[in-house]
Amino acid sequence: MVWTKTEYKEKIIAALPMKHFWHNRFHIEMPFGLINDPNGLSFYQGEYHIFYQWNPYSCEHKHKSWGYIKTTDFVHYTIPCLALVPGESFDKDGCYTGCGFVEEDKLQFVYTGNVKNDKNERESYQCLGSLQADGRIKKEGVLIAKQPSGYTAHFRDPYIFYRAGEQYMVLGIQTEALKGRVVLYHKKAGCWEFSGEIKTSLGDFGYMWECPNMLRFADADVLVFSPQGLQAKETKWQNLYQTGYIVGNLNLSTPEFSHGDFEEVDMGFDFYAPQVFKANGRYLMLGWIGMPDRSEDYPTSDKGWMFALTMMRELTMKNGRLYQQPIYEIEKLRSDKTEIFKREFTNYQGELPRGSEILLDLVLGEAKQITIKFYFALEKITFTYDRQKELFCIDRNKMKLGGKGIRKFKLAAKANLRLHFFIDRTVIELFCQDGEKTATLMYFPEEDRSPQLVIQADDIVTSMKGGFWQMGCIE
Ligand code: FRU
Repeated sequence: MVWTKTEYKEKIIAALPMKHFWHNRFHIEMPFGLINDPNGLSFYQGEYHIFYQWNPYSCEHKHKSWGYIKTTDFVHYTIPCLALVPGESFDKDGCYTGCGFVEEDKLQFVYTGNVKNDKNERESYQCLGSLQADGRIKKEGVLIAKQPSGYTAHFRDPYIFYRAGEQYMVLGIQTEALKGRVVLYHKKAGCWEFSGEIKTSLGDFGYMWECPNMLRFADADVLVFSPQGLQAKETKWQNLYQTGYIVGNLNLSTPEFSHGDFEEVDMGFDFYAPQVFKANGRYLMLGWIGMPDRSEDYPTSDKGWMFALTMMRELTMKNGRLYQQPIYEIEKLRSDKTEIFKREFTNYQGELPRGSEILLDLVLGEAKQITIKFYFALEKITFTYDRQKELFCIDRNKMKLGGKGIRKFKLAAKANLRLHFFIDRTVIELFCQDGEKTATLMYFPEEDRSPQLVIQADDIVTSMKGGFWQMGCIE
């Protein structure tokens, strides 16, 4: 008996004891186990290759392997498989995060081998791998066997980038004084040489920086990274760990980075450790929807799976800031559009399909405050924009299960507010003002009901144009 791929997938899902309405429709997640950081993202031989941290055995941060799927259109994906699993002396306690790069026409990877030695001390090895025809990553040995002196063994997440045809690598690291930093390596005559710590003006900025990415837009260098240990402020750094970026100029020989302020990548509750890669002239980013050390916020763990990845986002730079938009390919999942066009109103209500995209263009008129609520039976999540304070607020306190709390961030929308929501079964992604700000969060409704959309303003809104679509499933 030969099954088609779709039949095969349906059979696997039907056989799962944990089949549940919390499984997402258009976000990448695994049917079992825990996933975290995207890894090895690359475009190679006409296909997008997506790897991610995956513990297929349990919902604990253990046994980290690399899961693997491929796609050509971001709608159809291959069946997940394990591409890289721990086991060698240099990675026996985890194949941690790394990146992909194409050299000599081969898709290759650098990743961190995590080792706990006999004294239970951490050792970190930066390792090389290459993709084989059967979809497995062959381990090609160790490139960097130890952290540079003056640093602890929290040394991981290699990311390769190119300047003037030469290969460089950034890694997250911790100093012996327990400060987070990024270090730079340069490949010379086939060997990786330590160029030094990237000097920023951030100073005391957390105890560890994870998952650095080095990008370049026109004449600006951008370092995206995930610092741990920042104190929450009223409108920023409200999660346990952050992800953000600095924009400026990296001098590769000194290596000094002159830059502006640290800006957060995403203002929601559940976003961390993104990876960016370049494909066909676009910078594409995938983030992990989750947060380390906050497992209690994610009740799917009782059902055998945990976390998801964001939709693929395209990054552009405007006025020195990163903008994020869902890639246009995702529009292929749209069907059954419901148009919205309202003038001079203070209230709107509608029933949403399960799995939806909602685009709203608002001319706020007299309204000083507008609230968008998504009801799941009696539970709700509220998004409020206060025009005078230029403050956006997301409230998850009216959900019974999972993480709660409020997130606030600055948004200078003035009279025209453009909101673009994607509501999956347990994930919401919001893009404000064409991707100037984004917010990603998880939610876990008690009941399997179609969400209700309620929009309320404190005074007359001049107009609202847009609509919503049913979103199909990625296959
Ligand atoms: C970030 C991270 C990385 C590490 C990986 C391990 O979430 O902690 O620094 O390589 O996850 O799964």
